[in-house]
Amino acid sequence: MNELLRKDAAEMANLLEQVKLQGVHYLEQVSQRSTNAQQAVALQHDLPAEGVGAEAALREFNQRFEPVMAATSGPRYWGFVTGGSTPASIAGDWLTSVYDQNSFAVKGLGDISANIELETIQLLLNLLELPGDFLGGFVTGATVSNFTCLAVARQWVGKQSGEDIAKDGLSGPVHILSATPHSSAIKSLSLLGIGSNQLIAVKTEEGNRESMLVADLENKIAALHGQPFILISSGGTVNTVDFDDFAAIAVLKNKYNFWWHIDAAFGGFAACSDAHKHLLKGWEGADSITVDCHKWLNVPYESAVFLVKNQHRLLQVETFQNSNAPYLGDPLENFSYMNFLPENSRRLKALPAWFSLKAYGKQGYKDIVENCIGLAQQFGQYIAQSPHFELLAPVRLNTVCFTLKQPDGADRATEFLHQLNSTGKVFMTPTVYKGKKGIRAALVNWRTTADDLHIVQTLMEQVIAKL
Ligand SMILES: Cc1ncc(COP(=O)(O)O)c(C=O)c1O
Repeated sequence: MNELLRKDAAEMANLLEQVKLQGVHYLEQVSQRSTNAQQAVALQHDLPAEGVGAEAALREFNQRFEPVMAATSGPRYWGFVTGGSTPASIAGDWLTSVYDQNSFAVKGLGDISANIELETIQLLLNLLELPGDFLGGFVTGATVSNFTCLAVARQWVGKQSGEDIAKDGLSGPVHILSATPHSSAIKSLSLLGIGSNQLIAVKTEEGNRESMLVADLENKIAALHGQPFILISSGGTVNTVDFDDFAAIAVLKNKYNFWWHIDAAFGGFAACSDAHKHLLKGWEGADSITVDCHKWLNVPYESAVFLVKNQHRLLQVETFQNSNAPYLGDPLENFSYMNFLPENSRRLKALPAWFSLKAYGKQGYKDIVENCIGLAQQFGQYIAQSPHFELLAPVRLNTVCFTLKQPDGADRATEFLHQLNSTGKVFMTPTVYKGKKGIRAALVNWRTTADDLHIVQTLMEQVIAKL
């Protein structure tokens, strides 16, 4: 055995103790830590012939890279849609590395840790008040979840005319209808060979809305003259968290032949709030749903689930099976995740989510979700009443989309955001909404409190006064 490996193995307890103390220290001061990277990184490309051992590697990490770590899991990182990690999910994540399972099988000899994944999916369906007739699995993020769901949808479209797209490739266009899809769904169309240009844009509802106009959806369906298509609907658009009318779409599903996909990456967690679950009414009728766990479930990156109706199992296997590996057995008889999703080898991604769901239960997630919604509404009221800022859209859930007041407010939004983010005390992201430059603040972190809101509002006043 290599001498450094032997020594590290003997010193394992010591090493993990150091990492534990460092981790605890980081988490205890994450609220004070900068939301901006503090320095640039000089990269070194030469790998020395002799290693330095884990303790020295830790020292080098601390010296060169640790200062670069921004407080992305802290309470005032409101950029993109960035969750934090709950204590239990961190414990689960650490154990995922310790046990290091290659998680795909549920029975047989060897690693059967995918059972934990099957159980976690059921817990999640329970939390989201969805029926148990979905097969779900963990992937790296909502992008890959959208990709996975749309890959099965593509196979479904082919089967409507007796084609097997997974085997033979595309022989014609696949029709896609959507109003305000997330960019990752469009990216998935490119990856799947469908092509992003195949998107047929459905009009949005009148007023300040991003949700699809159901009457126009029906017009667009009529124009397809009975050809099958895929509908990509939104369970929370990323800019203004608008929801398509799932109850109305469910009615159309009985009338027309289409695959219904919902991207509910973060909006799906509206199911945890009594006052907001109506936004998802009817979503159980979808063929496939995307839900991101590293957003509002507050587990570490990389974690999202795809949910595909059980009745589509065969299509899913046709899409993802390892068809030239007969030693893996019959994928329908011998369930293995590797025949149902893009990756073959994969870590036990479900474990952090399992820990967090068990640790905090339905009430814990209701508290997290309702806290974020309440704070977003308060922040929205501050914006609405401010002489300096204006809302670009009503606050529908957990995201505030705003800009600086006119006449030249939108033009100054970029500079304002730059200066605000440079304080290192808060982080928001730029956006363009209905042609106007704006700013998005998305609240999905369990740590965020009214004190954080106060800190941010005070900072905003200071920055705008100096602009
Ligand atoms: C609605 C929606 N779908 C998909 C994604 C992509 O998620 P991920 O970055 O986890 O792949 C996001 C990210 O913000 C999102 O908001």
